[in-house]
Amino acid sequence: MTYIEQFNVLLNTTNEERYQRWIDFRKKIDASLLNVIERLPVRETAVVVGAGRCEDFSLIKLVNSFDKVILADIDLESIVDSVAYKELKKTERGKVELLKIDFTGVENSGLFINLEARLRAADNFDSIEKIINTGFGDIAKYRFLKNSYKEADLTFVSPIYTQFIYQQLMLTVGKLRSTGYPENLLKYIENLVSDKLVSVFKMFNDNLRKVTRGYLVVASDIFQDYSDSDFMINIKKNFNNEEIDKIYEQYHSDYGFGMGDLGLFLLNDLMELESSEWLLWPFSSKSDMVVKLSIYK
Ligand SMILES: C[S@@+](CC[C@H](N)C(=O)[O-])C[C@H]1O[C@@H](n2cnc3c(N)ncnc32)[C@H](O)[C@@H]1O
Repeated sequence: MTYIEQFNVLLNTTNEERYQRWIDFRKKIDASLLNVIERLPVRETAVVVGAGRCEDFSLIKLVNSFDKVILADIDLESIVDSVAYKELKKTERGKVELLKIDFTGVENSGLFINLEARLRAADNFDSIEKIINTGFGDIAKYRFLKNSYKEADLTFVSPIYTQFIYQQLMLTVGKLRSTGYPENLLKYIENLVSDKLVSVFKMFNDNLRKVTRGYLVVASDIFQDYSDSDFMINIKKNFNNEEIDKIYEQYHSDYGFGMGDLGLFLLNDLMELESSEWLLWPFSSKSDMVVKLSIYK
């Protein structure tokens, strides 16, 4: 199992009853998807990017609406094990295609192979830059779902920007930090990785654009906090688009972009944003997320 796959299999494995916990969230996503589906002149193919355990959308509704449903993820086991996939009848399953893909491309470039040891051995900015540059490869040229270009009448992207690479690299940075690796070099790695992430997001978005001939619906997690934190309690007190827009504006002017909103911001340059709404995602028993659901043409 590759590094990125292993990382996501672990994240997707949980004892939490997410299928139950996410009922309302799933219903809201379904409602937006159905609204888009009704407006499609052709309903041949739907693509789900980051399908995982298929718990944040109703697989059966897509299967009933399209001739073909492509479920793409690095972790196919989670899809095959999911309640939604298991409940499909044989004929319904025949409409579903599973595709194992790393959407970032870094797995092919070997970034994570012996990364910790290689960084440990590097003691200057130039060597570090070489490791990171080689590890990310020629990001802009990376293509996924090539065989489905201009095929998707609907592309649904499950919350995924925040899962790309950064967290995985920060685990390595954390290990280096705990063993006394020089702080100035660690900061340099963090900055280089943040820059690279922008290129990864641009490449990812460009592939989404190339795949989609109808609508692109992107869910992205923007805020995450403990369910009982003051911040989340305040957000939940008056959860509507206008209020969350205000909170977001304030947050953005105080702290700048996070990964979830950066991904959407970059997408706005590529495709026409039709509408967006805020959704509350009761992610686990202890933490909530606030998701922005954006619809592009
Ligand atoms: C937060 S989950 C989305 C929820 C998911 N739809 C569900 O219902 O379980 C994000 C998904 O993106 C996948 N993913 C994360 N990074 C990936 C990558 N680099 N390439 C492909 N899939 C990735 C994960 O395996 C996970 O299934």
